[in-house]
Amino acid sequence: MQKKRAISGVQATGSLHLGNYLGAIKHWVNMQEEFDCFFFLADLHAITIPQDPDNLRNSIYNSTAAYLASGLDPKKTTIFAQSDVKEHAELSWILNCMTPIGWLKRMTQFKDKAGKNQEIASSGLFTYPVLMTADILLYNADFVPVGEDQKQHIELARDIAGAVNRKFGKELLKVPEPLIQGNTTRVKSLRDGTKKMSKSDTSGHSRINLGDSRDEIVEKIKKAKTDSLEYISYEESRPEIANLLEIYGEFSGKKIETIVNSYIGHGFAKFKNDLAEIVSENLGPISLKYHQYSSDKGFLQQTLRNGKEKASKTALQTICKIKESFGFLNL
Ligand code: ADP
Ligand code: TRP
Repeated sequence: MQKKRAISGVQATGSLHLGNYLGAIKHWVNMQEEFDCFFFLADLHAITIPQDPDNLRNSIYNSTAAYLASGLDPKKTTIFAQSDVKEHAELSWILNCMTPIGWLKRMTQFKDKAGKNQEIASSGLFTYPVLMTADILLYNADFVPVGEDQKQHIELARDIAGAVNRKFGKELLKVPEPLIQGNTTRVKSLRDGTKKMSKSDTSGHSRINLGDSRDEIVEKIKKAKTDSLEYISYEESRPEIANLLEIYGEFSGKKIETIVNSYIGHGFAKFKNDLAEIVSENLGPISLKYHQYSSDKGFLQQTLRNGKEKASKTALQTICKIKESFGFLNL
């Protein structure tokens, strides 16, 4: 039987962090046997906000290294850079012409990212979800494994696929399903439990990066925001503690209730010490491999070249079909 296909990506800006890992990449690693997987570096998405060229280049390499260090295997999974497969930009234009502005105005990520500066934000930031739709539809993906924050974008991709299919009266594009897995679909910032952990947060202490050393992990967890209460409990009114408990649960495999019970009578110092130990034990091997891979540029380039070749074959088939349907000559 043919395997179902999965596609996803991470924006190639800055370092990959614990949120990217627990919300997305960890699940991708577990999907590699059962699914036909395409996981890419979203570098075209990265330039929706200004990027320094050297930083962008480094981010693409480092994010590839983080994918490999986390356990993505280029023999099983197609790993490539979005900008290397030109059909992403091509399909994105066509889909832009199928997307009412009103649909894009509803996207909460644009409002969050542009904030008060909507008038001076790039139009690329506004049409970002259409490029993301092209990324998905180009590969006829069945599933899109992402963290909670991307759900709205996948809904939009479904709507756009539906609009194209209605126009032509047939299932030209597969309507994809979001796949939001696990208990940590939204890891919060270590500095503010109401915000998600993000690459774009200006505070380095707000996130744990996949390449962080043991000492950095210990320090960030020690300094993680808590509150004035002395005891550990899992409550909505204590978002910072809840976040730390969720991370603890994810890495230890223990139920949150069991963890809370084991800290009755203890304060934050012991809890944070133990958490730092568990996190660095789990991330240690990833961090080590990350540093090995990121210093082997030749291997990273070869991995991305092989991925580009494989991805381009599928992408070309879809774009030809779409262009023909729309009335382009495709000479
Ligand atoms: P960032 O928001 O840090 O720039 P991306 O937007 O590139 O990260 O996200 C890449 C993947 O990681 C997506 O599937 C997204 O849902 C997931 N992700 C990002 N941040 C978090 C988080 N804090 N918790 C859970 N998943 C996350
Ligand atoms: N927008 C996604 C994010 O910020 C990254 C992304 C780009 C993506 N294209 C995609 C995720 C296609 C899934 C499928 O997390």
